Amino acid sequence: MTLEVQANLQPKEQMRCSFGWQPHNIMSTPNIVLNVNGIEVIYNHVILVLKGVSLNVPEGKIVAILGGNGAGKTTTLRAISNLLKGERGEVTKGSIELRGERIENLSPADLVQRGVVQVMEGRHCFAHLTIEENLLTGGYTRKDKAEVAANLEKVYNYFPRLKTRRTSQAAYTSGGEQQMCAIGRALMANPSMVLLDEPSMGLAPQIVEEVFEIVKDLNHKEKVTFLLAEQNTNMALKYADYGYIMESGRVVMDGVASDLANNEDVKEFYLGVGGGERKSFKDVKSYKRRKRWLA
Ligand SMILES: Nc1ncnc2c1ncn2[C@@H]1O[C@H](COP(=O)(O)OP(=O)(O)OP(=O)(O)O)[C@@H](O)[C@H]1O
Ligand SMILES: [Mg+2]
Repeated sequence: MTLEVQANLQPKEQMRCSFGWQPHNIMSTPNIVLNVNGIEVIYNHVILVLKGVSLNVPEGKIVAILGGNGAGKTTTLRAISNLLKGERGEVTKGSIELRGERIENLSPADLVQRGVVQVMEGRHCFAHLTIEENLLTGGYTRKDKAEVAANLEKVYNYFPRLKTRRTSQAAYTSGGEQQMCAIGRALMANPSMVLLDEPSMGLAPQIVEEVFEIVKDLNHKEKVTFLLAEQNTNMALKYADYGYIMESGRVVMDGVASDLANNEDVKEFYLGVGGGERKSFKDVKSYKRRKRWLA
């Protein structure tokens, strides 16, 4: 398709044409666990942050929400897990469905019971508790002690680093260990789906890779579905199946992760590599060439 023809299309249509994305046939998997349909979110009754966000998460896949600071990634995850209220935010339009059930009015605890757990941005371990105590707080909804113990062992299997630090106070563990602890704690609830907000935040590249490898492992072996928000586009597209790119409260592009990673615009604006005539650092840096989806 020529650029001229693309320029005449609406952004969504462009992506569908360029990636062969078929509505209702996301990654050829009809089994959609989570469907977010045109949601609008307003903070403090006046600040409109999400302006009609739609996305699908198929069962057993890793889906990434990408975008820079303030794009609306965290707000999208908060809307799904119903954590907006504490932030004086609310969903004012659209719908969110989990396996066909509307979930906008469920509490976060109801969602945990339905198998959806969120790992919040910034890790949020309990600083004064040990790693093991932190993990055990994730299993508090479960009554069967033997099951909790088995789950703890399973978490230690996936995160051997946590096993060696099990008696250390979380405050004195590394950022990577705290991120692992936060994910491990979510796993203690035996979720079928984890919403993971910015797992790479503040971590060295090698540790980010280690965390993503574990996410992939959990996805493959435990069949946990992941919806993750990431600024680290490169890493997220390496591990995700599908990606949504957000800017200013809207999804501006979506596609199969490998297609997004090879897309010239994504490379230029999110991966920091320009192709062909756009090699000039100045052009990229000053955003002289307008993003095609904003044209
Ligand atoms: N509690 C709040 N009250 C008012 N505005 C908020 C609140 N939380 C977020 N916002 C605004 O909503 C917009 C989207 O924020 P959000 O945290 O969802 O972005 P993000 O994509 O997660 O960014 P980052 O990558 O920096 O985490 C930003 O403009 C932010 O200032
Ligand atoms: Mg965020």
